[in-house]
Amino acid sequence: MPFATLRQVLEAAREGRYGVGAFNVNNMESLQGIMAAAARCNSPVIIQASRGALKYTNLNYLRHLMLAAVELNPNIPVVLHLDHGDKIETVREAIALGFTSVMIDASHFPFEENVRITKEVCDYAHPRGVSVEAELGTLGGIEEDVSGHVQLTNPDQAVEFINRTGVDALAVAIGTSHGAYKFKSAPVLATDLVRTISDRTHKPLVMHGSSSVPADIKKMINDYGGRMPEAVGVPMESIVASIANGVCKINVDTDSRMAMTAAIRKVFHDDPTKFDPRDYLGPAREAITDMVESKMRAFGCAGHAGDYVPLTLEEAKHQYYNL
Ligand code: G3H
Ligand code: 13P
Ligand code: ZN
Repeated sequence: MPFATLRQVLEAAREGRYGVGAFNVNNMESLQGIMAAAARCNSPVIIQASRGALKYTNLNYLRHLMLAAVELNPNIPVVLHLDHGDKIETVREAIALGFTSVMIDASHFPFEENVRITKEVCDYAHPRGVSVEAELGTLGGIEEDVSGHVQLTNPDQAVEFINRTGVDALAVAIGTSHGAYKFKSAPVLATDLVRTISDRTHKPLVMHGSSSVPADIKKMINDYGGRMPEAVGVPMESIVASIANGVCKINVDTDSRMAMTAAIRKVFHDDPTKFDPRDYLGPAREAITDMVESKMRAFGCAGHAGDYVPLTLEEAKHQYYNL
């Protein structure tokens, strides 16, 4: 099976009213852990790499890991997605490497500049069959460093943005933020806003900052020597409600990091004589599999791997133009 495009995977999800998990990877064990969960659940999966991940993996290592993941899981549609691309050069680099989907995040610029940059990316990616995700509004967390405030997505702007750029999926700001320290107490997300934007744009919507920061995993980290301060994430009920209202892609990174760290800390706590990396990276990989499996079942994407045959990029470009 070739890599799938984001457009195809998310259009099927929108139609089928389920969400597809998008998981960040930086190394072999996390990729293997996620793929094992997708295989166990028979689920499509979006594997995403941030600019930091591209740098850390030296680009080509990541590409070959991804090729292995697809080769070893021929029945699983896999989207290879660039997370938070910052400029056209990064997008070009990812597409040259074989990514089937890119995010351009120009949400910290004024609306017109966001439209211009996003359109430039669509004009480059779509003739190559590659899907594009963009963002409108401002999340908290890492993006607060850029803009200093949180701004929910405006539905009128969302309609205009999609019409003028032609993006395949839109990341919306509904109150989530990146990282482990999202909220002080259980959050109220703007799930009704998701419904309004979905009904008006008819496009798959994306929820960033969707980690739940599970209390049991945080406790395990701290029980085994960690010092994570109080942290509250997005409750699964809010994610499920957002999916029912039109969110089709759910971005998760922090929870995978936490699952891996908790497992590694436990190994060292239980037996401080251990020094073979396989002794701690193996359990870390299994912890990611368990965590991702439970999310795939909750998001509803489990069981949907065989619903369609992924289009090649050559086939996908005909969806945009008569090429
Ligand atoms: O949205 C950001 C992701 O969690 C990636 O984080 O830049 O540390 O790789 P990173
Ligand atoms: P979390 O930090 O909540 O895992 O969000 C990840 C994300 O949005 C990646 O783009
Ligand atoms: Zn994000």
